[in-house]
Amino acid sequence: NIDTELLRTLPKAELHLHLEGTLEPELMFALAQRNGMPLPYDSVDALRSAYEFGNLQDFLNLYYQGAAVLQTEQDFYDLTLAYLERCARDGVVHVEPFFDPQTHTARAVTMATQFRGILRALADGKERWGITSCLILSFLRHLSEEDAVVTLQQALPWREHFVAVGLDSSEKGNPPEKFQRVFDQARALGLKAVAHAGEEGPADYIAQALDLLKVVRIDHGVRCSDDPVLVQRLIDQQTPLTVCPLSNTRLKVFSDMSEHNIMQLLERGMRVTINSDDPAYFGGYLLDNYLAVRDALGMTREQAVQLARNSLTSSFLDGDSLNNHL
Ligand code: HPA
Ligand code: ZN
Repeated sequence: NIDTELLRTLPKAELHLHLEGTLEPELMFALAQRNGMPLPYDSVDALRSAYEFGNLQDFLNLYYQGAAVLQTEQDFYDLTLAYLERCARDGVVHVEPFFDPQTHTARAVTMATQFRGILRALADGKERWGITSCLILSFLRHLSEEDAVVTLQQALPWREHFVAVGLDSSEKGNPPEKFQRVFDQARALGLKAVAHAGEEGPADYIAQALDLLKVVRIDHGVRCSDDPVLVQRLIDQQTPLTVCPLSNTRLKVFSDMSEHNIMQLLERGMRVTINSDDPAYFGGYLLDNYLAVRDALGMTREQAVQLARNSLTSSFLDGDSLNNHL
């Protein structure tokens, strides 16, 4: 098995990370106090001990409740900068974070407030630690497609400051086909597309995301293994999967890390990457996810190098900006 220090120093990219999911309980309390908002928990420990999830929806309920403390540009800045500081310590050289604007515009926190805070932190992260980034605007799939269309319109003044659209939130019952028109609009604007698919939802949602939304990566995608034809397609097309091991065990997608299929998919030749999803809620940042996989399933130095390389080559970087990290 590869040792921890080698894993830490290996240059890695993070391609599946929700900024709202990096809100640590300590920061949640600090922002609640700063903004004069009550929290339904007495202490950081009481909050943390509520992080027991039976499924995706259990988590989402707490995640949206927590995100309500984010009110000002400075809140979004502090959130994003704290994440980047952790990246710098873990050998993460490039990030492609999601943010969920609808979670905030629904509370009258404007698109401008969100973009200004996040973009200022991403610029400072580049300046301080050399971390490059590409931002992804993600639509909430439990809301209507019309709401997503309005959100895309609201984001147009910042068109040059994000590279892709994504699709997250409650997967079951909200198939990719529901968002075909808004993804068409986004791609017509020159944006790339990614989508969460095959986390809790069926393998068919992965095929829909590819065929109808024309995504260039699948977020999660672990349920592809239910469909051998789809598995072969993902291998043939070398579609990247942004797998999130600690998320999957915390949300009971797999009962235990020893049951996770990530190394099987990697060994079959799929373009698999490791990511942290919502590290403040799932018990670990990017390096912790590599270590959890190594400890439960084994990871040779060659496999670790392949995973880290996959993360960079599956990113939206190309040319010199990619080669500078390889
Ligand atoms: N799945 C769906 N929606 C999400 C997730 C996830 O893992 N994390 C944050 N929003
Ligand atoms: Zn996710």
